[in-house]
Amino acid sequence: MSVPPDTVSLFDYERHFNDRVDPATRAYIGGAGADGITQRANREAFDRLRLMPRVLRDLSNATARSTLFGETLDYPIILAPMAYHKLVHPDGELATVEAAGLTRSWMTVSTQASVRIDEIARRATAPLWFQLYTQPRREDTLTLMRRAEDAGCRALVLTVDAPVNGMRNMEQRAGFRLPPTIAPVNLAGLAPDGFRPARPGSPVFQGMLHAAPTWDTVAWLCGETALPVLLKGILNPADVDPAIAAGAGGLIVSNHGGRTLDTLPTSIDALPAVAAKAARRLPVLMDGGIRRGTDILKALALGADAVLIGQPVLHALAVGGLAGVAHMLTLLQTELEVAMALTGRATLAEIDRSVIHPSA
Ligand code: FNR
Ligand code: LAC
Repeated sequence: MSVPPDTVSLFDYERHFNDRVDPATRAYIGGAGADGITQRANREAFDRLRLMPRVLRDLSNATARSTLFGETLDYPIILAPMAYHKLVHPDGELATVEAAGLTRSWMTVSTQASVRIDEIARRATAPLWFQLYTQPRREDTLTLMRRAEDAGCRALVLTVDAPVNGMRNMEQRAGFRLPPTIAPVNLAGLAPDGFRPARPGSPVFQGMLHAAPTWDTVAWLCGETALPVLLKGILNPADVDPAIAAGAGGLIVSNHGGRTLDTLPTSIDALPAVAAKAARRLPVLMDGGIRRGTDILKALALGADAVLIGQPVLHALAVGGLAGVAHMLTLLQTELEVAMALTGRATLAEIDRSVIHPSA
């Protein structure tokens, strides 16, 4: 496993990933909901935005550092929760977390991680967050949350946009199956996420939705933990006040990388209204389509405090293991610094809407 020397951007990692990984795994990782309209649009929306530079500014003390939940974040780039890193590398999340540590990046571990959270935490040298999928029984959700707390996680990310899976047609066509050696080991010992329709009828409405959280679940969870709880999958500003009322500590504007409901708006298009409604009462993060330092600059300009990156982490893990992920994160950090320098923004606080050209 080695990183080809022409790997100079996240798109190069994606290209090499596509060359090396089998079609079914590729379809799972890249797989969008239905026709992939939202996933494609996540990228196109960034590309449409044009940057407006200022020149001749003093950049001698420039920094991409900020503070989030009381801790210093060196770069506003966090690893998004993703299931089953072992699909692309035998060390799975253990390689990813070491790469995150080497680059001082924070990592969010998925409920469906293929390595136990305590084992991941032992290798971590930068803050970890844990992404929570609520379980059919409240006591199991609590157990999962306590495992994350005991492992020293600094925040919980409650995913609220996937009470059921989207129509993963790409994955279905490719016939993806989880290999028998890979499992959601953090759910060990918990009641299976049983698909047991109580009565005949719709398997969606009467099956999986038993485990789906509601606003009451959010309020209950926030009352059970001292950690900040971020809600991941917010697109509508109408959900901001209920989130704050329920005790949420942060919001992640996200369409799940286009993997859930197709034709949802792009994250970058949804961000400004959510950020405006939040009005700095709590941090607002975003994910979906971030592939360039300029994308990060645009997200910060439109109201994000930080961004999360998903697919590129697995692309780099598949291509170069630990070294690949560390290199990929370094590329993104460098690109952000170059984008700040070439738009004349010395700090994240200076990145506001004026950096977006009004033609956009
Ligand atoms: C995800 N995502 C995700 N989200 C989540 O809350 N829990 C999860 O377990 C997963 N699993 C997962 C697996 C894979 C293979 C992918 C690609 C994505 C969604 C992820 O956190 C994030 O929202 C998107 O990936 C962001 O978009 P980009 O950066 O991939 O374009
Ligand atoms: C996904 C689920 C695990 O996006 O969130 O694949």
